[in-house]
Amino acid sequence: MKATAVAHPNVALAKYWGKRDVPGNVPATPSVSVSLGGLETRTTVAFDEALGGDELELNGSIASGEPLARVSKLLDEVRALAGHRRFARVVTRNDFPTASGLASSASGFAALARAATAAAAVHLDDRALSRVARRASASAARSVFGGFVALGTEDDAAAEPLEVDFPIAIVVAAVTLAAKDTSSTAGMAHCRATSPYYGAWVDDAPKVAAEVRAAIVARDLPRLGRAAEASALRMHACMLASDPALLYWAPATIDLLHRVRALRAEGVSAWATIDAGPHVKVVCAPADAARVVDRLAPAAVRTIVAHVGGAARVLPEEAS
Ligand code: DP6
Repeated sequence: MKATAVAHPNVALAKYWGKRDVPGNVPATPSVSVSLGGLETRTTVAFDEALGGDELELNGSIASGEPLARVSKLLDEVRALAGHRRFARVVTRNDFPTASGLASSASGFAALARAATAAAAVHLDDRALSRVARRASASAARSVFGGFVALGTEDDAAAEPLEVDFPIAIVVAAVTLAAKDTSSTAGMAHCRATSPYYGAWVDDAPKVAAEVRAAIVARDLPRLGRAAEASALRMHACMLASDPALLYWAPATIDLLHRVRALRAEGVSAWATIDAGPHVKVVCAPADAARVVDRLAPAAVRTIVAHVGGAARVLPEEAS
């Protein structure tokens, strides 16, 4: 009744931002991501009939309220599949800053779905597991798989791996280690309700996602970078047009964007993407990663070089 799983965060190269009006947390825009190898969430789930409720320890602190409620909701699905009512103790740890736009909900819920189903001996294929993760957090549907991964907008969508071997580097430039103030879930609801550009964003996003996908299949880094940067900036344009404006950027975010442009002007194929937070992630060739880090580091509190990572996996018992 106990299992440990590891999952990597992912960064969307074509962004999911907004939800459809159907049950089960289905995206309004298709997304394509890359798994961030080198960053990980490790989650242990132990079902225990002695517990009077689910318990969550997140990075060494006991969590309650909204984070625990989201975890319990996923566990309820697993309990229903397993046909038992035991509560669980969940211990989860990220080796990167939590809730700061570094996609911890993606790796967190992918690791939770993997660990909880293993602990309950519920056997789901990867696409079914991806749906469980999606209902908790849509970006988590993608972290079930490794490499480049697409998530559509169909009812009860599951992510699918693109199965393309395209070694790129992703330089994560963190500008603060503090938690962000507007969650993605709240931010996208606000954007949809108040941004006059929301409709345009939803209409345009499938074209950009198709371009991102085609660039990955063609292993064309400049083409991928151009489309990925456009996806991120269009999403942020939609956010900025909300009322009140949703401004996730810090001064350092803009500094970093200029540094990436300067690198490009010097002939380095480096392209920026930004999620619902102030951090900048730069897609480049592995051979250019050190040069990109040198250029970004003065404007960042921390830089991390990620490579294309693997799928969420259960650890053997002796390692958990
Ligand atoms: C900007 O997956 O965190 O990172 O489904 O409400 O949990 P919920 O949202 P979440 O949103 C991610 C938004 C994004 C873009 C992306 O990862 O595609």
